[in-house]
Amino acid sequence: MSVPPIVPDANKATKAPTMKTDSPKGDNHPKSQTSRRVEPSAHFRAKARIKSHDEYLRLYNESLESPETFWKSQTRDLVFRTPSRKFLEWDSPHAKFFVGATLNITESCLDRHLATEARNRAAIVWEGEPGDVRTLTYLELHHEVVKLTAALADLGVAAGDRVAIYMGMVPEAAIAMLACARLGAPHSVIFGGFSADALRDRINDCEAKVLITQDGAYRRGAIVPLKKMADAALLETPSVQHAVVLSRIGRSGSEVSPAEMKPGRDIWWHELLSREPSLANKEMADAPNAFDAEHPLFILYTSGSTGKPKGVLHTTAGYLAGVHVSTNAVFDIRDSDLYWCTADVGWVTGHSYIVYGPMSVGASCMMYEGAPNFPDPGRFWQIIERHGVTILYTAPTAIRAFIRWGDEFPKRHNLGSLRLLGSVGEPINPEVWQWYHRVIGASQCPVVDTWWQTETGSIMLTTLPAASGSKPGSTGLPMFGVEPDVVDADGRSVKAGEGGRLIIKHPWPSMARTLWGDDERFRQTYFNVVPNVYFTGDGAKRDEDGYYWVTGRIDDVLNIAGHRIGTAEVESAFVSHPAIAEAAAVGRPDELKGSALVVFVTLKQGAAPSGQLRDELKAHIEKEIGKFARPDEIRFAEGLPKTRSGKIMRRLLKEIAAGATAMKGDTSTLEDFSVVAQLQAAQEP
Ligand code: WTA
Repeated sequence: MSVPPIVPDANKATKAPTMKTDSPKGDNHPKSQTSRRVEPSAHFRAKARIKSHDEYLRLYNESLESPETFWKSQTRDLVFRTPSRKFLEWDSPHAKFFVGATLNITESCLDRHLATEARNRAAIVWEGEPGDVRTLTYLELHHEVVKLTAALADLGVAAGDRVAIYMGMVPEAAIAMLACARLGAPHSVIFGGFSADALRDRINDCEAKVLITQDGAYRRGAIVPLKKMADAALLETPSVQHAVVLSRIGRSGSEVSPAEMKPGRDIWWHELLSREPSLANKEMADAPNAFDAEHPLFILYTSGSTGKPKGVLHTTAGYLAGVHVSTNAVFDIRDSDLYWCTADVGWVTGHSYIVYGPMSVGASCMMYEGAPNFPDPGRFWQIIERHGVTILYTAPTAIRAFIRWGDEFPKRHNLGSLRLLGSVGEPINPEVWQWYHRVIGASQCPVVDTWWQTETGSIMLTTLPAASGSKPGSTGLPMFGVEPDVVDADGRSVKAGEGGRLIIKHPWPSMARTLWGDDERFRQTYFNVVPNVYFTGDGAKRDEDGYYWVTGRIDDVLNIAGHRIGTAEVESAFVSHPAIAEAAAVGRPDELKGSALVVFVTLKQGAAPSGQLRDELKAHIEKEIGKFARPDEIRFAEGLPKTRSGKIMRRLLKEIAAGATAMKGDTSTLEDFSVVAQLQAAQEP
């Protein structure tokens, strides 16, 4: 394997690279931004594991040149029952890592801590939205996981069976994931913001045997009726035999739980756990089985470029190695830290950096149930002050909301416990980065911008906090074992500073192994742009210091407020409405959400544009996909602009969505694209 051109001298002044890629927000990073670096303080550096750019480079080079030695030494704390025979078997697009090894991932995340000081350390410090607090030590968490493992086995769940988890941000979501993993039953967590229909489709795709859910979750002072939605989904999910229901709302004091239990199918979590498990299952839960390194760990659905969501499959040893090593390197967590990743467990960030990564290093993790602005926009800062959070990992969309809500909220709280800040999910604009650094980090905390994806499993690009200076707006340098490149349409590397497609040249341990039930789509989606090389779907450029600047998706996926939404998914949901003939979904730059969702629609005969129809369509999308996919704007059109071969001209629609706002809110105006379409068609070669 060769080493990509990273300039070893991190402090060298840079020449201005040529900027060619369009950023989704239109920020064309000028020279002053690409060369500017914020260096970590000497104080932070002194305490860090990886203290200098040279040290980072040495490890990085080792990870490419002697991967076996590198991964062996970096994963020495993890528990393997059988060591691996071989580091990698690669038969593109299929990778096997740590070939021949066996393990139970929960032994690395739980059992091993019981023999150390971590035993009585908080694994989870949880705060509910109403303000209730619970702490689970590693010992307690282990106990809960073991109990649920035996109980699930008693319900008939065996290794290899799929379990769907549809929960809010409660410790039991992590317990459920870990119990499935202990049992060897791949979990599929479905974000609690998804609708009943979306839940049903995901359950059916992976044919889950059991659904774990809860009566309701608190969100912005209201209750999200998760069980009610689950009930609607379960009307059409033949594979589900049981639903395990956590009593969250009942427990926190409200009179009657809104959940209705279906006899024979539904069982309360606390009742299930109060039953004495069979001896065999109890023994299995106490001393769990070891599984092959490539045993499926979880399926996580994410949006792609067709209407059908993709079930990204991650397996055990490689994934664990990736999240473990990156958690150590990027967050540099110590025993005294309280680390808070604000993502939802329903997304990959919650999987990798709330559950598996941090627990594999024995971290204390803050977990919060509710909205960042409930009861007021100071809630995050109050949590940090109350619990003494030291590391905060959040998303640009949240930071932009904080900026809008005003500095007075963070300023009301003592945030002095913070020592490191992280960002993930979308490009962070340099101004937003600066605000985060200055107002939240008091200009003292390094900010690590981490680029990665559901498919990559763990962080791929970032600056390690004490090793290399950060450039606001850049996601930094490759993580260990990651060999990225920026290429043109023909797969040729482009020059420094030029825009192109972001690819990863060689397999890495935490990469997705396939798409559940659709291996061909896996190959087509990710290994086709450059044959046998992973294509990320993102555009990027690399500057002359080797720093990457990710500019956003260049495929048919939108990133709305940090949520991945496929344009085709939205379009097919629209077309399933009786009034809609055709739909085209595009993103428009949005100050708060990064991108806003704009959908152009043509109507079937007999339907007429109206404000009422627009509202109806928004409600329809909420039902089909979920609230988070509600379009910001729906624009009625006579016809959609198309090329002669019939392809919708999205670029044009994007420009229209970004520019012309005159028609916004006017329910009667129809956009007439016929002229543009004719002109465009005439120009086509
Ligand atoms: C985007 C979330 C710029 C990117 C972990 C990627 C980012 C998609 C960053 C994956 C970042 C994520 N800078 N863009 N630091 N992090 N993205 O699968 O477009 O929900 O392809 O994984 O988010 O989103 P996903």
